[in-house]
Amino acid sequence: MKKKTRLLILFGGRSSEHEVSLRSTAAICQNLSPERYQTALVYIDRRGRWFRQKAGAAAFKNKTLSPRADPRGAVSLPLGKRGDAALGSIDVVFPILHGPYGEDGTLQGLLELLGLPYVGCGVLASAACMDKEATKRLAEQAGLPVLPYIVAGAGSRVLAGEVGGKLGWPVFVKPARQGSSVGVSRVAAPRGLKDACRHAFRFDDKILIEKGLTARELECAVLGGDSKAEASCLGEIIPSREFYTYEAKYLDPEGAKLVYPIDLGEKKNAEARGLALAAFKALDCHGMSRVDMLQDKKTGRLYLNELNTIPGFTAISMYPKLWEVSGIPFPKLLDRLVDLALLRHRQKSKLKTSL
Ligand SMILES: Nc1ncnc2c1ncn2[C@@H]1O[C@H](COP(=O)(O)OP(=O)(O)O)[C@@H](O)[C@H]1O
Ligand SMILES: [Mg+2]
Repeated sequence: MKKKTRLLILFGGRSSEHEVSLRSTAAICQNLSPERYQTALVYIDRRGRWFRQKAGAAAFKNKTLSPRADPRGAVSLPLGKRGDAALGSIDVVFPILHGPYGEDGTLQGLLELLGLPYVGCGVLASAACMDKEATKRLAEQAGLPVLPYIVAGAGSRVLAGEVGGKLGWPVFVKPARQGSSVGVSRVAAPRGLKDACRHAFRFDDKILIEKGLTARELECAVLGGDSKAEASCLGEIIPSREFYTYEAKYLDPEGAKLVYPIDLGEKKNAEARGLALAAFKALDCHGMSRVDMLQDKKTGRLYLNELNTIPGFTAISMYPKLWEVSGIPFPKLLDRLVDLALLRHRQKSKLKTSL
């Protein structure tokens, strides 16, 4: 019998998307092939402490996990290839941590230092995709369409006249390095700008002010390695409110409709999928990313909005659903991601580190 792959799932985390991570992890555990994997779970609590979990079925009630911060399960860092004694050795890590301290390159840096293969994007792509200014700059440099924007640092004065002159109204004001629509506002007229900036500055000391569109929100799932990546069918988010807010994402079950696959016509489908692949490449992504785009309802033009390097993986999340309708069922998708992680690690370990 072939030896099982020892997979460590890291979940929870210090972010506003902690709960999503629990649900994503439950769905992943239920879709991992038991013949191939021996799975260990480590929960990162909201304070950043790591705890080993039992992988027992009892933990999977109601499609989520109920992790325990039991000091007897505390994990001490660094984990090595030989592992924390209590965890056993690890072949590959699957981080299911959304947002800061998980999706932003910090954790990926730790795993690089430990020499452990891990699923998903590396340090640079993770950090660049978490920062909306860096995403835009790299995309622009690759000739990809992004909406016009202004960046403001803490303490800088944002002048409504300047914003209106460059971007028109409405605008969207966003913290540069957040997710889940946290701190995002739509501003229809100059008088709302100051409050929206103040609100965004609560979450980051750098904010973006962006031209606001009346737009369709399109998503495409990308899967692959350095040399070859594939784009899924397209999906659409149809929010029931003015835009796709935090409430619409997580609190209100009627907050948005996820529609997939959608058909924009042959030419536009190809253009959107091409944009998703080009963005994946421009941002140096590896493994997976969900690429979010906006399509201007008036002109039909497409714009890159953002890339999520660790997208939601719940049973109803767009990333696994888009692959399912594109012919890769959830368990197979997980195998592909793990294979990509192991392959990248093998290739990297062949590189010379000295002359
Ligand atoms: N320029 C824009 N024009 C129209 N809607 C926008 C624009 N920017 C953001 N939005 C709306 O705000 C939501 C959150 O913005 P987004 O940039 O995706 O931030 P987050 O990283 O928090 O998801 C989007 O899903 C969309 O509904
Ligand atoms: Mg978004």
